[in-house]
Amino acid sequence: MVLSSAISESHHASDSSIHSTFASRYVQTSLPRFRMAEGEISKEAAYQIISDELMLDGNPRLNLASFVTTWMEPECDKLILASLNKNYIDMDEYPVTTELQDRCVNMIARLFNAPLKDGEQAVGAGTVGSSEAIMLAGLAFKRKWQNKRKAEGKPYDKPNIVTGANVQVCWEKFARYFEVELKDVKLREDYYVMDPDKAVEMVDENTICVCAILGSTYNGEFEDVKRLNELLEEKNKETGWDTPIHVDAASGGFIAPFLYPELEWDFRLSCVRSINVSGHKYGLVYAGVGWVVWKSKDDLPEELIFHVNYLGADQPTFTLNFSKGASQIIAQYYQFIRLGFEGYKSIMENCRSNAKVLCDGIRSTGRFNILSKDVGVPVVAFSLKDRSQHDEFEVADNLRRYGWIVPAYTMAPDAEHICLLRVVVREDFSCTLAQRLVEDIRRVLDYLDARPPKLVEAVAVAIAQKEPELKEDVKPSTLLASPVFREVMLAKKFPKKFGSFKMNGVC
Ligand SMILES: Cc1ncc(COP(=O)(O)O)c(C=O)c1O
Repeated sequence: MVLSSAISESHHASDSSIHSTFASRYVQTSLPRFRMAEGEISKEAAYQIISDELMLDGNPRLNLASFVTTWMEPECDKLILASLNKNYIDMDEYPVTTELQDRCVNMIARLFNAPLKDGEQAVGAGTVGSSEAIMLAGLAFKRKWQNKRKAEGKPYDKPNIVTGANVQVCWEKFARYFEVELKDVKLREDYYVMDPDKAVEMVDENTICVCAILGSTYNGEFEDVKRLNELLEEKNKETGWDTPIHVDAASGGFIAPFLYPELEWDFRLSCVRSINVSGHKYGLVYAGVGWVVWKSKDDLPEELIFHVNYLGADQPTFTLNFSKGASQIIAQYYQFIRLGFEGYKSIMENCRSNAKVLCDGIRSTGRFNILSKDVGVPVVAFSLKDRSQHDEFEVADNLRRYGWIVPAYTMAPDAEHICLLRVVVREDFSCTLAQRLVEDIRRVLDYLDARPPKLVEAVAVAIAQKEPELKEDVKPSTLLASPVFREVMLAKKFPKKFGSFKMNGVC
């Protein structure tokens, strides 16, 4: 849910009606914007009005900010449309859909090397995305830890999790909503993921789990789960604790098994007890599906499972929501049987090689440092070498003129002085588009070089009013470091880009 702000504060307040583009053909009168109209309108008019407004949204295929799938085969689109009226939770009524979900959970658990015997059922659940999956995994850790502490007669009111400062905002949500302290390992210049040594140092008897990310949202880099596991094994042996690892493989979970099968990050490692992955990212399904899998039954406390039976037979569920559409699960199953291991591998190889084309092209401009890694999620993260004239936000804004949606953002603490741009290379981003994007980046640089740095100037003036000593130095790096930077940017209404220092608008 996006919280709507009060109507009076809205910038639409001056015009509280919606006018149809083709008014003379469809709706003669305008419609109220913020209250339900008295009467009906025709279905053609409703369609026209909404599709006209939606024209102003960006083009999803050119939305390079998002990991989320924007293209599927028409056959799968047909299956999705045909199942739009199915509620996934009606398991007794839609037993086949439930069975398809079970098959997906089993396939994913085996892909992540869960120690399952032939025919043994994996433990896991379909979710709306990785965020819900993470809430469920976090709750399981919290409850397990509490049960253990209660049994030992120890206090159980101060649980914490250890993560890198680069975690996606859903971990902060989990921590706040479910009252768990989040202890984050800060980043540093040239090291933009969680340092496993520092993470294990932070672990104490109240740590319910350490979260490692396979594919940092910021630059796609894989965290070193194997090293984390070794260090944690040692610490657990020394202390007698049993601190587990959760791997947030939201984007990397469907990359690593295909491109880096030798990389040990999953249930092959002793401390890894649960993993989440977004079906709607490199699982290749449209938005609305994620997965969480546990290593064994013992890792999911029974008391978190609800047994609902009023719609028919006993339904064990572990979800935050009750109802949700079934089509995304069906679509995930479609991709699994349609592509198989080899199909996924070839798509991921293609994404990796297109990311390389893009990365080489961006490097060849001579203007950027590359902050993503060769081994990782196929994203290209890059920052300007010289920010004295223009910054990454201006590059992003100007790329919009060519249709590209490329986000610019700042790194997590303590590397927030680093600004970067990030392109997620998805299946539908071809080599031709990669080459085209490089050409457009060059055009934007030429344009910016020939233009006075307006935004920098505007911000500098605003900051200089508060901090006169900065007046002489308008370099973005100095401005970013200024304590009043955030305040000024918020006041200048740039909150989406600069406001939170957490890239929580991009997933
Ligand atoms: C590492 C990581 N974890 C969790 C999430 C949240 O995933 P979802 O959008 O599937 O809820 C994201 C989204 O980008 C992510 O990158």
